[in-house]
Amino acid sequence: MRHLIDILDLTTQEIDELIETANDIIANPAAYAHKCEGKKLAALFFEPSTRTRLSFEAAMYELGGHVIGFSDAGNSSSAKGESVADTIKMIGCYADIAAMRHFKEGAPLVAAMRSEIPVINAGDGGHNHPTQTLTDLLTIKREKGHFDGLTVGFCGDLKFGRTVHSLITALSRYENVKFILISPQELKVPSYVKDMIKEKSLAYKQTTDLDSVMPELDILYMTRVQRERFFNEEEYLRLKDSYILTPEKLKTAKDTLSILHPLPRVNEIAVAVDDDPRACYFRQALNGKFIRMALILKLLEEAGK
Ligand code: NCD
Repeated sequence: MRHLIDILDLTTQEIDELIETANDIIANPAAYAHKCEGKKLAALFFEPSTRTRLSFEAAMYELGGHVIGFSDAGNSSSAKGESVADTIKMIGCYADIAAMRHFKEGAPLVAAMRSEIPVINAGDGGHNHPTQTLTDLLTIKREKGHFDGLTVGFCGDLKFGRTVHSLITALSRYENVKFILISPQELKVPSYVKDMIKEKSLAYKQTTDLDSVMPELDILYMTRVQRERFFNEEEYLRLKDSYILTPEKLKTAKDTLSILHPLPRVNEIAVAVDDDPRACYFRQALNGKFIRMALILKLLEEAGK
């Protein structure tokens, strides 16, 4: 059974194919409107979500399928002490594919090991978020046309930001990508993520200063400081406004810069930036639905459903 737990579960060729399918869906939505008729997606959200859950649901509906599930784990049997392994085993009786978000790192992997239907990791704690990465890659491909040779700045909470971990991992497989990791000392990227860059001998630098690197960037990937992962509220309050992107700060940026953000935004991008043509984050959110449609189709097809 094929699952998507880590972005490395997909080859770069498979990612290209998913991007191609997503682009075809964007161009010809009617051709896909009945592809999943009679199929059910289980959306198992043990942690808050707006975009990821709703884009999975919209994706399945636009393929002609149905959605079951929960968005509040307090209403599920996990509140009675059921394990994710038991939950997924049982969900396999009701649905053809499952998307799971969980506050515990590794929970979707544990579920996949016991599952008889494909499991998609929709975000596990501060670890990984592979479908956000597919969304980000589709966005970069549509905005820039390629991945090779880009200078990509990641800014904000690189320690707890799971979307950052998965996207760095994915981009490390392309040629001559340069990483600029911008964060407070306390929120630096974990060493296992940095090791991906080092293993591929790709160029990277770490800095606390966004302004000094702004002119170099082709992509600026802004992130929210992940309040729910902090052990201590005081530390969060001290770090939460470390970076706030404003039109003023963008004056030294390239005209061709693409600004991405997985959303939700808190304070790290001023609303005034939204009107800048370089701001891609709302287009990025829309892309999330199309790439999830492509992914659902692929996994169901491989599962023989
Ligand atoms: C991200 C997440 O859940 O990790 N949101 C999303 O899925 N688009 C980013 C975040 O919560 O900061």
